[in-house]
Amino acid sequence: MKIVIIGGTGLIGSKTAERLRRQGHEVIAAAPNTGVNTITGEGLADALSGASVVIDLANSPSFEDKAVLEFFETSGRNLIAAEKAAGVKHHIALSIIGVDRLPESGYMRAKVAQEKIIRESGIPYTIVHSTQFMEFLAGIAQSGTVGNMVHLSPAYVQPIASDDVADNMTAVANDAPIDGVVEISGPERFRLNELVARYLKAMGDTRKVEADAEARYFGAKLKDTSLVSDNNPRLGRITFEQWFATSARK
Ligand SMILES: NC(=O)c1ccc[n+]([C@@H]2O[C@H](COP(=O)([O-])OP(=O)(O)OC[C@H]3O[C@@H](n4cnc5c(N)ncnc54)[C@H](OP(=O)(O)O)[C@@H]3O)[C@@H](O)[C@H]2O)c1
Repeated sequence: MKIVIIGGTGLIGSKTAERLRRQGHEVIAAAPNTGVNTITGEGLADALSGASVVIDLANSPSFEDKAVLEFFETSGRNLIAAEKAAGVKHHIALSIIGVDRLPESGYMRAKVAQEKIIRESGIPYTIVHSTQFMEFLAGIAQSGTVGNMVHLSPAYVQPIASDDVADNMTAVANDAPIDGVVEISGPERFRLNELVARYLKAMGDTRKVEADAEARYFGAKLKDTSLVSDNNPRLGRITFEQWFATSARK
């Protein structure tokens, strides 16, 4: 079948496109640099023509509160309108475990807004809620850095490797829409500050991590279980050690 991946050149998008192509699907990797832009609408109708499934794996170029909200709202609305015109039968999006527990975070508010547009669209959908990608650890460290110190919450995280995320997105694309949420997570649970300290040390990064229960995670104060799920999520196979050995320096 024809599957359009919005953000098909990104971290998860490119890996998902590769997997679905290997299965024999016709895959369009849609992104501004392939001539498809969900903000301006450029190339969208052409890309979606004849598509059965759309997987939205785009991300905002800016994480600033107002910019990120505008991105996910505008992109979401334009995409749903184009999908309705094209008769798309399954809309899939990737969001975050705990997204609705962290309204202090502008990024989480933007993802909640994206989900609302999908739920109210009338198009059959599946929303995948994932924990943090292992590839995002560097970004998390950066977000808490002041000088040579990294201030991070000791809340739990259960990060998932992008290859496991892509395997799950591929499976969902082959399944029927559930008009609900599928949760995915990495196999191991860590304290965020301890995992980032371990990651930085292994990378030879000299920054020191300080556990700080008041430290904000992209604007939100975390409780111990804000970013994890005990709701029987689908678990990835790749451990932190395995990921670090094969992928951390790519
Ligand atoms: N990071 C995490 O830990 C985490 C956890 C759970 C869920 N998620 C979600 O996972 C999704 C994918 O993240 P990712 O890290 O794979 O993203 P990424 O690597 O940053 O890729 C983003 C993609 O979006 C495309 N894009 C940007 N603006 C666009 C536009 N106007 N129209 C169409 N495409 C556009 C980019 O294309 P260009 O390169 O051409 O700009 C790129 O292909 C995001 O929605 C994020 O919220 C992330």
